[in-house]
Amino acid sequence: MSVFAAKNSPHAGHNVVVIGTQWGDEGKGKVVDWLTDHVAGVVRFQGGHNAGHTLIIGGEKTILRLIPSGIMRPHVICYIGNGVVLCPSALFKEIAELEAMDVDVQSRLRISNAATLIFPHHIALDQARERKRGKEKIGTTGRGIGPAYEDKIARRALRVQDLYRPDYFASVLRETLEYHNFVLTHYLDSTAIDFQKTLDDMLALGARLQPMVGDVSSELEAVYSAGKNLLFEGAQGTLLDVDHGTYPFVTSSNCVAGNACAGAGVGPSRLHYILGITKAYCTRVGAGPFPSELYDQDNPLKQDPIGVYLAKTGKEFGSVTGRPRRTGWLDVAALKRAIQINGISGLCMTKLDVLDGLETIKLCVGYRLDGEQIAILPSGADVVGRCEPIYETFPGWRCSTVGICRWELLPELAQRYLERIAQLVGVEIAMISTGPDRDETILRRHPYQL
Ligand code: GDP
Ligand code: IMO
Ligand code: MG
Repeated sequence: MSVFAAKNSPHAGHNVVVIGTQWGDEGKGKVVDWLTDHVAGVVRFQGGHNAGHTLIIGGEKTILRLIPSGIMRPHVICYIGNGVVLCPSALFKEIAELEAMDVDVQSRLRISNAATLIFPHHIALDQARERKRGKEKIGTTGRGIGPAYEDKIARRALRVQDLYRPDYFASVLRETLEYHNFVLTHYLDSTAIDFQKTLDDMLALGARLQPMVGDVSSELEAVYSAGKNLLFEGAQGTLLDVDHGTYPFVTSSNCVAGNACAGAGVGPSRLHYILGITKAYCTRVGAGPFPSELYDQDNPLKQDPIGVYLAKTGKEFGSVTGRPRRTGWLDVAALKRAIQINGISGLCMTKLDVLDGLETIKLCVGYRLDGEQIAILPSGADVVGRCEPIYETFPGWRCSTVGICRWELLPELAQRYLERIAQLVGVEIAMISTGPDRDETILRRHPYQL
């Protein structure tokens, strides 16, 4: 298919941001892969290998963690922006997995010289802290994401470009490792990380990375100016955003659309359409409040057969950690917050097929909070934890929607459910996903064809 030109200029590209509107795992990878037919480049701008984006193409499954979900299309260049925290050993592991499937990665992957590096001590700190927190843990992916972002904000991080200044690299590493090893051994009952091994390993990985490293911000501007389209691929989801999510049960980056600019080095005028991905229900992996939850693995008393049904039918296990995901009804009040924070232009509703077997479907349309009714998710874990869901109830359609590719072929009750959601949030549903495979998709408005 052709690459569509921007609406307002025949000479510049049209850029779309794909954002998760829930707690991650909305199906971003599938949708990004589908849309990359229309783009020259796909850009990751935040997060790291805590992400797990699943692509199913002709029945074959690929799980991507750091590498953008455009990699399965040979014409697409994939970019890792400065806002990503990059673990070089994890990246090479992922590259090797893709190369074993005959996917050419290294000639199509560009890495920002300003991306922050994740070191073994970040991973050790993340895991040791979680152990120490015990029952109070966040439930992180244990990939060192939080500690690496902490070093960035504290201005002591090492970045990709520092790999090519070995003396500077060694001196900063020695100093920061001394500090982190003190915390690991004196405070977290953990073991110290060896300086020389860390240095040698990182510099060796840096040499392998070098051909892919560059000024990604300038490269993206060149693609855009040449009239080609880009896709900015969010990781995690709005409700895990470090500012806007259920703090402190969040990840350590801004996952919202606005961060596509800071995390890739592009200006806000370069973003033209924000596509919000939402499941037809909700899931969450890790701890933290979840008002419309149907199943709480930590509390058997709260187990609900419908929650178990959604988890089983939707195969709700973490793509990175394999942990079971908590499940619940779609939360429109949370979706409204996501739409507001991201400036969402259109929604893509995924996993509609998972609701096929249900007799009754509920939709959380607001909350009762401290004796009042509210229609939009408030900020912070404490207050969200006190929100009691208010539901609207719908009859289920009780027939298969799996693989349906046209709106008219959806059962009327499914159409009604979707139309009610669009009405409540005031944003159109541009796409619907009816199965994990690339082709199991209904298009109503193409984000690249406005
Ligand atoms: P991401 O992190 O947002 O990319 O999502 P994940 O890949 O972690 O999780 C989404 C899961 O749902 C994956 O296993 C996908 O293959 C699957 N999936 C995506 N869209 C659909 C859909 O419409 N129906 C079904 N049944 N599965 C889907
Ligand atoms: P994708 O991109 C779902 C969650 C973790 C934990 C919290 C903090 O596949 O949607 P971290 O390791 O980031 O410090 O963990 O964030 N989390 C995700 N949950 N999908 C993800 O990514 C996630 N990335 C992090 O479970 O609750
Ligand atoms: Mg995922």
